[in-house]
Amino acid sequence: MTAASPVAHDAAGQGAAGGPPVRRLADWSAARLRELADEYGTPLYVLDRDRVVANARRLRTAFPDAEIHYAVKANAVGAVLSALAGAGVGAECASAGEVERALDAGFAGEDVRYTAVNPPAADLDFVVGLGEDLTITVGARDTLDRLAERDWTGRLCVRVNPGVGAGHHAKVTTGAAPKFGVPIDRAAALAREASSRGFDVVGLHAHAGSGILEAFDAHHELARRLGDLTRAVEAGDAAGTGAGRYGGSDGIDLEFVSVGGGFGVPARPEESPLDLDGVAGTTREALGAVDARLAIEPGRYFVADAGVLLTRVNTVKPTPGTTVVGVDAGMGSLLRPALYDAHHEIRSLASDVADRETIGTTVTGPVCETADVLGRDRELPRPTRGDYLAVGTAGAYGYEMASTYNSRPRPAVVALGGETSGSDTDDRGAREDSTGGTARLAVRRETLDDLVRLER
Ligand code: LLP
Repeated sequence: MTAASPVAHDAAGQGAAGGPPVRRLADWSAARLRELADEYGTPLYVLDRDRVVANARRLRTAFPDAEIHYAVKANAVGAVLSALAGAGVGAECASAGEVERALDAGFAGEDVRYTAVNPPAADLDFVVGLGEDLTITVGARDTLDRLAERDWTGRLCVRVNPGVGAGHHAKVTTGAAPKFGVPIDRAAALAREASSRGFDVVGLHAHAGSGILEAFDAHHELARRLGDLTRAVEAGDAAGTGAGRYGGSDGIDLEFVSVGGGFGVPARPEESPLDLDGVAGTTREALGAVDARLAIEPGRYFVADAGVLLTRVNTVKPTPGTTVVGVDAGMGSLLRPALYDAHHEIRSLASDVADRETIGTTVTGPVCETADVLGRDRELPRPTRGDYLAVGTAGAYGYEMASTYNSRPRPAVVALGGETSGSDTDDRGAREDSTGGTARLAVRRETLDDLVRLER
């Protein structure tokens, strides 16, 4: 995560910095996707590493001076992590497993942050065992105590509950949910307490929620509140914070103030991409003057439009209201439509789509649940059995949230591009190639044997 990193500064502007602001499902080559489905089978996730690196470049261009960490939870597949480990960003991890995978993929310990949300003991044991390189973000005094019990007093960040949130769905609107972070009026006190107990307090953090496309007011309000708090902590201002209880009014030299992630990626063709430069500008303005460096930790933005899910039509069933198109990917492969009513574009990859009439369809998976619908009321060139369909913006929280429900093995993942790692991915990332270069199997398809392997 040094200044010399490949996605560091790019004066050439947004386009040159990483291609179009969003890659739509229509931009993927149907012929190439058909080939991949033929070769690797379906359901299949296709992930373009070059696009992931291009997205990193666009973030860097919009936030030239910020610390940028990739929220690993969006997609922890090694092919993604290794692409980003060489791309000048750090890793934000939600669990010991994510920390281990990030380190394995090549992120340096000092570039890894572990955001402990009600952390299981095993997570703390593991992370503490790694030493004091990485930064641990705590959202409760209990977590501070549990770290101290483990004789860990390393780099610490205090997560704040800013009292405002936003997101594409209530279930991912985080900022005001009491589960997350220390109430903002108690955060300065906790930071000071931690400092007086010997922790190296390096940052403050808040996260509004996920998938914010338009409603950035809450995000800005978060930044404004975090800016005030940062100034109070930096100045040692105990006023109204109760900080005086924890030993004096010395200011804390903070390295960073993180406004979290949440940058949305449009799923529908008619939705405009996020104005990243605009968001960056207003975030800075809302934060105001602080000594600490601005930090962001997007997940979705890096990977959402770098991935598609390929599936095959098994059943075409006319019914009075709609034609039910049964495919081999369902809520086990892509949970987001069932869990959040999330929209994902669906496109036929048939080579003769131009000759087919368009009909209204409901695209359903093979899981025995009413919720197992990938898309309702979709106009598609009349599907026939054996066709491949592609499901768009599936790179974030797709494979990551897949399950084996109904004893259905999880899909395979194939990675495109990024044959070379490190600084070479710089040039590759800048070249927008919708076919994405060479393919390689990144995660093999799960098997029925895998499903019972843990049973005794
Ligand atoms: N930082 C923290 C502390 C987070 O909790 C999250 C996401 C992020 C960063 C990254 O947010 P992003 O930039 O990806 O929006 N499964 C849901 C999204 C859950 C997000 C959870 N936290 C979905 O599929 O929409």
